[in-house]
Amino acid sequence: MSDTLIFKGGLVHSLDPTTLEILDDATVVVVNGVITALYKSSSHVPADALPTDITALTLPRGEFLIPGFVDTHNHAPQWPMRGLGQGLHILDWLNNITFPFEARFADATYAAEMYEHTVDDFLRQGITTACYYGSRHAQATRILADTCHRKGQRAFIGKCNMDRNAPEYICESNAQESLRETEDCIAHIRALPGCAAGTESALVKPIITPRFAISCTPELLSGLGDIVKRDDSLAVQTHFNEAQQEIDATTDLFPAFKGSEADLYESFGLLNRRTVLAHCTIMSEYEKSKISTLHCGVAHCPIANMTVGGGFMVAPIRDFMQRGIKVGLGTDSGGGWASQMLAVIRQAMIASNACEVMSGGKDTALSLEETFFLATLGGARVLCLDGYIGNFQVGKEFDAIRVATTTGTKSAMAPTNETDSTRTMFEKFIMTADDRNIHAVYVKGRLVS
Ligand code: GUN
Ligand code: FE
Repeated sequence: MSDTLIFKGGLVHSLDPTTLEILDDATVVVVNGVITALYKSSSHVPADALPTDITALTLPRGEFLIPGFVDTHNHAPQWPMRGLGQGLHILDWLNNITFPFEARFADATYAAEMYEHTVDDFLRQGITTACYYGSRHAQATRILADTCHRKGQRAFIGKCNMDRNAPEYICESNAQESLRETEDCIAHIRALPGCAAGTESALVKPIITPRFAISCTPELLSGLGDIVKRDDSLAVQTHFNEAQQEIDATTDLFPAFKGSEADLYESFGLLNRRTVLAHCTIMSEYEKSKISTLHCGVAHCPIANMTVGGGFMVAPIRDFMQRGIKVGLGTDSGGGWASQMLAVIRQAMIASNACEVMSGGKDTALSLEETFFLATLGGARVLCLDGYIGNFQVGKEFDAIRVATTTGTKSAMAPTNETDSTRTMFEKFIMTADDRNIHAVYVKGRLVS
């Protein structure tokens, strides 16, 4: 029996980085989680096109659908410590704040309880797809994958690899064990219903996750590269050119690469079109052109970049986009204080304004259209999922947020009125709303929050 949903009303989505399609009176038909029709106006719906036994959900004025948010960089075990350690540089922040928090995930009971709250929160914020770092613990990482699968969040799940330069209470004991546990986690995820290897649209997928080169021995990086070589459907993520302190330490550990992290990760077979590079704030011409040639994606995390970890770092997003490098947004929850993609969108605008000033006007600021694109279709591209999600194109899966701008005083959102266009309501939502304006969240047509 097929499962059909019909929505009638407003809809806003990105067609490309600069084009928003805004429809006031659309009809969307979803069958078994897949969008089978999108009519731009009710007058375009052919007679007999809609099943008569299904009652359409008609969105009242002030409500509209947008695609679910795609969070391209998120540390699940850092959700309980978001925002802590302001003012610390990256390596000090990791040692003093992050590692003690992540160490708690050695306890499976704690992990199960905390990941319930973590995934619930991200779903409530409209994050329908998340690219997660787990902790280094295999059992907790399997629990995270099970939790996303059960709750219906689309997710990439990576067991974090770290076998050196971390305190003993969290450091992995050797590369071999780290690699074995990584393979166990991949097998566990691919055994979840609907998640077999090679299923491009699987709800939950594994991702290879070396924390960063500083915390991985060459043996571990090379073993991870071998796993990727054997299976080109596997995604990879790491932290990349995040802060000067991190770049200097990496250069000291790997002098042969003369400061090029692109050369370093490439030499271990870890850079390809499925690689997600978090941060990319300090990027030479060489590094930019190399990640472009290798078709890697960038997870832009402006909240983390401008608060904890490195001072005030501004990634050259306009330059990346002009070069055709794929870019998405990341909460970097932990380093970033917010679990809200709306906050990340706003900070991406602020960062891009800073970039325009710092580049003497060359790197123009990002528009609302562009930042919304990065939070949805852009992120889907980074994760090689743009054939499946990111907007409401027919044939894609229905990952969506039902926005309600009409909650009165029950949210921080700027009030809307009868004369507001859908565009104005959308703009007020992006700039001032919170999760109280997110009435419902769907993944693959399933109501998940
Ligand atoms: N580099 C290595 N680990 C981390 C982390 O947990 N967060 C951030 N922002 N950078 C890192
Ligand atoms: Fe991070």
